[in-house]
Amino acid sequence: MSAAARVAAGQPLVVSSFSEWRSAARALLMHGVAPELVTWNERASLEADLFSGAPDSSSSSDNAPAGTTPLKPAPPHLPRIPRALMDMLQSAACCRVPDRWAFLYRVIWRWQRGEHDVQSPADPDGARLHGMVKAVRREEHDMHAYIRFRERPADAGPPRFAAWFEPRHDVLPQVAEHFVKRMGGVTWMIGTPEASVMWDGATLHHTGPLMSSAADLEDAGEALWLTYYRSIFNPARVNAQLMQSHIPSRFWKNLPEGAIVPGMVSNAELGARSTGQAQAVGRKSGFTIPIAPADAQPERQQPSKLDECRRCELWQYATQAVPGEGPKTAQIMLVGEQPGDQEDLAGKAFVGPAGKLLDRVFEAADVERRAIYLTNAVKHFKWEPRGKRRLHKTPVQREIDACSYWLEKEVATVKPTVIVALGATALKAVLGNGSAKLGESLGKAILHEGRWVVTVYHPSYILRVPDEEARRQAFNVMVEGLKLAKGLLERPPA
Ligand code: URA
Repeated sequence: MSAAARVAAGQPLVVSSFSEWRSAARALLMHGVAPELVTWNERASLEADLFSGAPDSSSSSDNAPAGTTPLKPAPPHLPRIPRALMDMLQSAACCRVPDRWAFLYRVIWRWQRGEHDVQSPADPDGARLHGMVKAVRREEHDMHAYIRFRERPADAGPPRFAAWFEPRHDVLPQVAEHFVKRMGGVTWMIGTPEASVMWDGATLHHTGPLMSSAADLEDAGEALWLTYYRSIFNPARVNAQLMQSHIPSRFWKNLPEGAIVPGMVSNAELGARSTGQAQAVGRKSGFTIPIAPADAQPERQQPSKLDECRRCELWQYATQAVPGEGPKTAQIMLVGEQPGDQEDLAGKAFVGPAGKLLDRVFEAADVERRAIYLTNAVKHFKWEPRGKRRLHKTPVQREIDACSYWLEKEVATVKPTVIVALGATALKAVLGNGSAKLGESLGKAILHEGRWVVTVYHPSYILRVPDEEARRQAFNVMVEGLKLAKGLLERPPA
């Protein structure tokens, strides 16, 4: 039954998501149904999230059932609702006030009747609308700022990070999108009292509440993952052969969900597949089977592209690999440690605070940044969570060794006369010597495999030095090191 027909029959409209409200509101406007005639009811949001991709059955028919009030004929066209107003309505729809759907309909009704002041803060409805949007934006901001991810033990299985938050408004979906961009391929979940989201490293999954308080984070382990897995498993869509071919069975045994999958698959074959179609879960738009990428890696050939590198596990945590950049004929190659937070997001080396300091060093040493090839010993950002921040974590020798594959390729391609190593990690990477000491090499030129290697401090060290005089001295070591590197170009190794 259409939304307008329901109203004509005296039935309430049950909606729980903005898209459901929008289709219903559109149908009501088309039939000129005044706001005071409509009763809007809220459905629990879990179902709405699960079915947000499902077609809207409430607008599938425009005919009123027999014996009900006849509907006004639909007008020939509906005025277009401006994008800015739609965006405000969508944002305000996340505000948990009991009459949100009714209020939004009153706003759009008034706008459509030519009362465009309804969008202005000077209008009482407009003021309320602006207030709701503001409250939602503040809640989004607070959730970004105050959520705390806790790392779970590496052997506990996915998700690797879990966080609990009690938002005052329905901002979980948009906040989750924010963290998808921030957390790379590592698995995580956010629990709230109303709903949960899980990121499996590739896809974001919305489901109902899986925890009831922050205390549950301690147990947010296998049991949680299995509950989640069951909740998103869609028997109607199961394709056992495909699942097996995507994830060879030898990996299944180590996956937490591996133990429950055979049962679910056979249930699906025994009938859950058809009944599942008719049940709510069958109406989902189609989720992928979530497998933590870390656990599901098939054996690979030598990776040919940096982005596909799986030589160590750091790729899971990073947004992307950050390649070196600069002229392929550069005479000086500068090697840093690893990309930082900003480099990880931008996919470019030395664009954050360390890069800014480096620019000052280049200027003081009269060296042109664009003449230099800039790269890092390790190409993926290694970090640990501190609340909502990602703090740099020094790569270990195993990770430096794994990434030397890429550094060696760069050196072989660029063939620099001088390599400038920034700090201890770069020095170890360049010399291929895990016990190389920064203090012994600082400011000196040494010959290594037919090239000059000059070692200076890492710019981040200078940023951390609390004492101004020590900072000035460390800065000078960097400048002098760069000048030395420039001078060595006149003395190519024999
Ligand atoms: N620190 C590094 O070593 N490299 C970068 O790219 C940024 C910060």
